[in-house]
Amino acid sequence: MYKQLVRPLFFSMQPETAHDLMRSVGRVANIPSVSGALLAAFQVRDPRLEVNVAGLRFPNPIGLAAGLDKNAELIGLWRGLGFGHIELGTVTARPQPGNPKPRIFRLAADQALINRMGFPSEGAEALELRLRGIRSRYRQLPPIGANIGKSKVTEIDHAIEDYLYSFTRLAPLVDYVTVNVSSPNTPGLRQLQERDRLSALLQALQSANRDRKPIFVKVAPDLSFPAIDEVLQCCVETGMAGIIATNTTISREGLRSPIEESGGLSGAPLRARALDVMRYISSQSGGRLELIGVGGITSYQDVLNMIAAGASMVQIYTALIYEGPGLVRAIERGLCAYMEQYRCASLREAAMLWSERSEDTAERSVGVAR
Ligand SMILES: Cc1cc2nc3c(=O)[nH]c(=O)nc-3n(C[C@H](O)[C@H](O)[C@H](O)COP(=O)(O)O)c2cc1C
Repeated sequence: MYKQLVRPLFFSMQPETAHDLMRSVGRVANIPSVSGALLAAFQVRDPRLEVNVAGLRFPNPIGLAAGLDKNAELIGLWRGLGFGHIELGTVTARPQPGNPKPRIFRLAADQALINRMGFPSEGAEALELRLRGIRSRYRQLPPIGANIGKSKVTEIDHAIEDYLYSFTRLAPLVDYVTVNVSSPNTPGLRQLQERDRLSALLQALQSANRDRKPIFVKVAPDLSFPAIDEVLQCCVETGMAGIIATNTTISREGLRSPIEESGGLSGAPLRARALDVMRYISSQSGGRLELIGVGGITSYQDVLNMIAAGASMVQIYTALIYEGPGLVRAIERGLCAYMEQYRCASLREAAMLWSERSEDTAERSVGVAR
C-alpha cells in the first residue's frame, strides 16, 4: 500500500513538503491509544531480538536515526511502528532555522537522499519542555536518545559551552546522549573530530554527566582510518559508551543520478562505506566501546552484515522514506525467520552464521538480492 499509493503521492512533492505532510498526519499517533493500536499492528515480539547496550535494554536492534524527528514531535508514531530506540535531534542550544530551502533532494535511482538541512532546531529548551510532556504521557517507551550539535552562530572555540548547555538540559530526560561532530552541513563542525578539540569536548561533557548517562559519539564516514584511531582513543580515554557510525558522506562515488547539490549523501550508496568503517572501528576498539551501525540499512541482511561487522544495533533513516512504515516490522520478521531456519539462539549467532555462509557466495556483496 505504501509503495503503490502513499509513496507516489509523497514523491510528487518536494521532499520537505512531503516530510511536513507526514509530520502533520503522524501527530495523530501522539494520542496514546492510536500509538497503542499501531504498536499492536507493527510490533514483533521475540526475546531473541532484544539487545542490552550500555546498561540499557532495547526491545529490538533497529532504531530511528537522528534527523527525522529533530524536535520530538512524533514519538507516538515511532513507538507505534516498533522502533527499538528513537534518536531525537540534532538539537542545538539555540533555536535556529537551518539552511534555506530546498535542502533535501531525492536520488530515486540510487535509493538515496542528499541533505543540507544545517540543523533546523527549536532549540534545547523547547525539546526539554516537550520531553517532559512525553515522559508524563507514556508509561512505556523504548530508549530515547538526544543527539546534540553546535549552534551555527557559536564559534568553534566556544563549542564546548554550547554543547554543555544542551547536554545539561536534556541528559536528565533521555536514556542516552549522542554528540554529533560529523554533520557536513554546519561549517567547521567536523573539526571537532580532531583529537585535541574532541578530547576537550568529551571531557567537559563527562564532567557534567552527573547521572552517568551513556554518551555516544557519531562519526563521519569520510574520516581516514588514522583519524578514526584518534577518535577512538579520545572516546576510550573519556569513558564514552560508544560510537555511532556513520553520518552522511560528502563523497559522490558511484551515483547514477545526475545531481550536483551539496550536502550529505545517505541511503544505499553509503552502505558499503559505513560497513567498512564499522569493521575497522570494531577491529580497533577491542570491545571497549559499544557500536551502533547506520548507513544504507534497508533489509534484515544489512542488519546481519552490520552486526557481523561489530555493531550491537543499527539505525535507519533513508530506507524508511523509500520503503515506508512497515520497514521495521519487515526487517524484524526477516531476522526472526532467519534465526528460526538456522536455529540461532541470538542475533549475534545469526550474524556470525550469515557472515560464514555468505563468505563463499556473492550474497555478501553490497548488491545482495532483496
Ligand atoms: C534529511 C536528513 C537529515 C539528517 N539529519 C541529521 C541530524 O540532524 N543529525 C545527525 O546526526 N544525523 C542526521 N542525518 C544522518 C542520519 O542520521 C544517518 O546517519 C544517515 O542518513 C545514514 O543513514 P541512512 O542511510 O539510513 O539514512 C540526517 C539524514 C538525512 C537524510
